[in-house]
Amino acid sequence: MSYIQYKKEEFIGELIITRLEALNALNSMVLDELSAVLDEVMQDDIRVLILSGAGEKAFAAGADIAEMEQLTASEAVGFCQKGNDVMDQIESLPVPVIAVVGGYALGGGCELALSCDIRLAAEQAVFGFPEVSLGIVPGYGGLHRLSRLIGSGKAKKLIFTAARIKAEEALAIGLVDQLCPREKLSEEARTLAEQIAANAPVAVKNSKKVINSSMGLTLKESRYLEVEEFADCFNTQDQSNAMEAFLKRLGPVSFAGK
Ligand code: CAA
Repeated sequence: MSYIQYKKEEFIGELIITRLEALNALNSMVLDELSAVLDEVMQDDIRVLILSGAGEKAFAAGADIAEMEQLTASEAVGFCQKGNDVMDQIESLPVPVIAVVGGYALGGGCELALSCDIRLAAEQAVFGFPEVSLGIVPGYGGLHRLSRLIGSGKAKKLIFTAARIKAEEALAIGLVDQLCPREKLSEEARTLAEQIAANAPVAVKNSKKVINSSMGLTLKESRYLEVEEFADCFNTQDQSNAMEAFLKRLGPVSFAGK
């Protein structure tokens, strides 16, 4: 059984979680497969990755409740670590990842979206953290990623109440970056991905690296890293070509990624 579909067009990779019978809920098999496919995808020459859930109803309806129901506390350690490992793997991919959320993004599904760089959602999408209503805490990195993204007060309100919120509210609190009608979702995702892929790949990667690393660094350390990554761009032909094209008014350049 294959739970992950992968396709690539030009420099854009697209992963679709396909477990329609359980609203794309993340069980161990889905997570294992996702992790393996992510490793393979990185061997491809892609500049941006789109991640979505199959069907209109859900991005992912959370970690698999049927699998969690009978876990002992010691088994829960492995379950939680596996999910966290996959979320970390996504977050640390060198290329930007766009979460395309068409429907429910609940619990582990919302945590999956949080591990991506940009969240694009349909106006009909629904977000939330039902974990405390199931007697557990969010276990795929949501406790820290959500607070960092939207602030601890708003994160605590969402997590402590287990409330479901609509896409418009998710946009207002910064959980989502862009909304569009569901019928335009694929097109908007593609446009966003193309905009990213049209830029110098090393510069985009280095930007992501500094932004992500800065979370765990002091301002001074982050500044040093920024200098390093800025300077690294000057090892590329893309930088000299783009600047020459600007100065000589040669028009847009296409980037080779080196
Ligand atoms: N795990 C396992 N199965 C799930 C699931 C989940 N998280 N979410 C949905 N499903 C299954 C349902 O059991 C159902 O299966 P059957 O047809 O075999 O009964 C199928 O998907 C369709 O679901 P519903 O019939 O419930 O569909 P609905 O339209 O009535 O409701 C929903 C949709 C509101 C998303 C509802 O399914 C729901 O509340 N799902 C659970 C959401 C949730 O609590 N997620 C958090 C899980 S905890 C977590 O994620 C922990 C963590 O951080 C690691």
